[in-house]
Amino acid sequence: MRSSKEVVTMNATFLDACNKKEPAHTPVWFMRQAGRYLPSYRALKANRSILDIAKDPNLASQVVVDAVDALDVDAGIMFADIMLPLEGMGVEFKIEENVGPIVTNPIRTLDDVNSLKELDLEGGIGYVFDGIDATLRKLDGRVPLIGFSGAPFTLAGYLIEGRPSRDLEKTKQMMYREPETWNSLMGTLTKMIVAYLSRQVSHGVEAVQLFDSWVGCLSPSDYERYVSQYTKTIMGSLDSGVPKIHFCANSASLLESFIGTGPDVLSVDWRVPISEAWERSENRTGIQGNLDPALALAGGERMRGEVGTIVEQSRGRRGHIFSLGHGVLRETPPENLRDVVKMVHDATRSRA
Ligand code: CP3
Repeated sequence: MRSSKEVVTMNATFLDACNKKEPAHTPVWFMRQAGRYLPSYRALKANRSILDIAKDPNLASQVVVDAVDALDVDAGIMFADIMLPLEGMGVEFKIEENVGPIVTNPIRTLDDVNSLKELDLEGGIGYVFDGIDATLRKLDGRVPLIGFSGAPFTLAGYLIEGRPSRDLEKTKQMMYREPETWNSLMGTLTKMIVAYLSRQVSHGVEAVQLFDSWVGCLSPSDYERYVSQYTKTIMGSLDSGVPKIHFCANSASLLESFIGTGPDVLSVDWRVPISEAWERSENRTGIQGNLDPALALAGGERMRGEVGTIVEQSRGRRGHIFSLGHGVLRETPPENLRDVVKMVHDATRSRA
């Protein structure tokens, strides 16, 4: 184990933005930047599953560094999946290509919740931290490494539905009708997430992102009633020196609720104009986003036009991290992402 203080990160732009200092240029990174759109990743994937890669610290670290090198981004994100710590709690699942996580025995009752084991950080999930160590060695201080976890609602959604779901009907049924089971599950997940993220930080990740990908399906009042307390606990339990990013797709109606849970940076998607996100955040958080991944896929003038708009609407604001509103799409030409990085860097470089 090593502390984040041992290596001085050479490219400080991402952390400067997280900390609302003026960066040398607006930092850029992309969700799923280590993924199938990259030929080097596809070559590794040819005879391996995503879990084979994530569980091998040498391969996991390589795909992080390959993406940083290929794109010239200002941060790396550790290679794992939000489902991995659940395996350490005794949940059996597979990640099906083009579908997502499939859980063998979904969690539906209080007994099911009680059967979840406490996450064993030393045993089952140790490879994640070995992967962080290996990644930091290979990055050698070039850019900071972001750690992450799924958020309680999104993990509960996969556990209860058993597979990706648009409406999360079963999840909402448990939430509305079985408050004891719901609170027990959310509490168990919250405790696990705090331990998991804290251990990532102690291994040297310099920021963490909480992925609440699917919580945009709730109304603001239900979010407040059933979810926000857990997010608040997570945000409040982590070392205050490590910036915390909150991510949710499709979340235009919930921005203020998310800000109320205490993140340093709010990651928003393209459905909200970034100028509106800045207004609504009232300088309480930085903003990460928010190019539509479909524009990154399309490239050309429409993409460049929108990159310009996002940069202009964020000019003079402290805490902008340029990113996509959701993950990189599989057919995206890497050169489009390189274009985005260069455009943002050139347009925001301080002329000191
Ligand atoms: O580069 C990075 O962003 C880091 C790695 C990362 C992965 N998953 C690897 C992965 C991260 C941060 C995640 C988070 C994750 N996983 C989320 C939250 C982000 C989001 O997209 O909302 C969610 C919901 C999952 C669950 C999951 N895993 C889905 C929905 C899928 C897609 C299934 C498919 O085939 O399209 C996965 C698989 C997955 N996780 C891939 C990667 C690179 C793609 C599949 C592969 O390489 O085999």
